[in-house]
Amino acid sequence: MKDSKQTNEGRRDFALKSILGLGGLAIAANATAAAPKRASSNLTLPEGKRMLGNLEVSAIGLGCMSMKSGSYNPPRDKKEMIPVIRGAVDLGVTFFDTAEVYGPFTDEELVGEALQPVRNEVVIASKFGFDFTNGNRAGRNSKPEHIRKAVEGMLKRLRTDRIDLLYLHRVDPDVPVEEVAGVVKELIKEGKALHFGLSEVSPTTIKKAHTELRVTAVQSEYSLIERVLENQVIDTCGELGIGFVPWGAVNRGFLADKFNEYSRFSDDSRFSSVPYFTPEAIKAHMPLLSLVREWALKKQATPAQIALAWVMAQKPYIVPIPGTTKLHHMKENMGALTVKFTPEELLEFRTQFEKIPLVGVRTPETALVDR
Ligand SMILES: NC(=O)c1ccc[n+]([C@@H]2O[C@H](COP(=O)([O-])OP(=O)(O)OC[C@H]3O[C@@H](n4cnc5c(N)ncnc54)[C@H](OP(=O)(O)O)[C@@H]3O)[C@@H](O)[C@H]2O)c1
Repeated sequence: MKDSKQTNEGRRDFALKSILGLGGLAIAANATAAAPKRASSNLTLPEGKRMLGNLEVSAIGLGCMSMKSGSYNPPRDKKEMIPVIRGAVDLGVTFFDTAEVYGPFTDEELVGEALQPVRNEVVIASKFGFDFTNGNRAGRNSKPEHIRKAVEGMLKRLRTDRIDLLYLHRVDPDVPVEEVAGVVKELIKEGKALHFGLSEVSPTTIKKAHTELRVTAVQSEYSLIERVLENQVIDTCGELGIGFVPWGAVNRGFLADKFNEYSRFSDDSRFSSVPYFTPEAIKAHMPLLSLVREWALKKQATPAQIALAWVMAQKPYIVPIPGTTKLHHMKENMGALTVKFTPEELLEFRTQFEKIPLVGVRTPETALVDR
C-alpha cells in the first residue's frame, strides 16, 4: 500500500503535468504503437474537436446510457430520445456512447436508428463483455467466440457495417486481455471495428493490451468528486498516446446541481447502491458543490459547465461524455467548451477542493486493479 505522502505527491505531480500540458502528447512519440499523426498537431484541430489516440471526435460526447438502461430514470420513449440524439448532432456532437448491456440491447437500437441518417459524420462507440440469459445481464464473458457473436449483434442493432470505437466493457478474469485484443485486431482487419477501447482497467492492463493492439481510448469514471484515476491511469494513457473518456463527469447529476442535501433514493434506484450517494456522502459533498457554484459565478457558467470544463482542462486528450435525456441539458453541457481556466485558476481550484473531505469514493489502490 502507498502511504498518503506518496499519494499526495502523485496528485501534485498529476496537477503540475496537467497545467503544463505534459504527460500526454509530448510523450506519445515513445508509445508502443506508432504515434498518431494528428495527435502531435493537436493544437491545430478544429475548434470543439479533440483526439482520442488517432480518432478525432467532438470535445464533448453524448453518453446515451440513461436513455434506455433504466439506470437513472425509467427507460425513455424512442420518439422522445431520437430528437435528443439528432439535436446533439446539430449542436456539433460527433461522439456517441452506448453499450450492448444498456437495456440490454435497446440503447444500441435507439442510437443506431437515431444516427442512421448521419452515420458517416459521427463516431459510434459501443462495448461488449457480458453474457446474457433470457435478455438479462449474466456475468462477464470475453471468450473469443462470444466477442465475435456480440459484435455481429451490435452491428445489426447499430444499423452499421463498422463500430468506430469498440470497447471491452469489463475485464473477464478468465480471458487474458491480450487475447481480447487479438480478437479485436482480427475484427479491425475485417473492417467490423475501427478502433479498440478499454473500460475500467488498471495501468497494467492498459499496457498489456496496448502491446498487442493500439488502444485508442480508455473509458472510466472521473470527476471533481471521483478523482482516483489521477493515480497512474490517466497518466498511463498520456504516456502511450491513448485518449481518456471520463464517464460520470457531472457525477450522475450531483455536480450539475440536480440534488440537494435532502435527496434520498429508493432501494430499487441505481443511486442507492452508489457509495457516494448515501445520505452521509451527499451531506459531506455539499461544500464541494458550493465551491463549484462559486466558480460557476466567477466564470459566468453553470455548475455542470464548470464540472465538464474542469475535466477537459486536466489533459488535452480527455473527452467527457455526459449522459442526458434532455436536449436543453446537452446544450448547457456544450457550453462548457467556452469555459477556460488559467493555470493559476486550476491550482487555486484544486487547492480549495482538495481540502474538502470526500465520502464513498475509491481509494488510490483501487485505481491499480481492474474493476
Ligand atoms: N464504461 C462504463 O462502465 C460506464 C459506466 C457508466 C456510464 N458510462 C457512459 O458514460 C455516460 C455518462 O455517464 P453517466 O450517465 O453515468 O453519468 P453523468 O454523465 O455524470 O450523469 C448523467 C446524469 O446527469 C444528469 N445531467 C447531465 N447533464 C445535466 C445538466 N446539464 N443539468 C442537470 N442534470 C444533468 C442527467 O440527467 P438528465 O437526463 O435529466 O439530463 C443524468 O441523470 C453514460 O451515458 C454511458 O454512456 C460508462
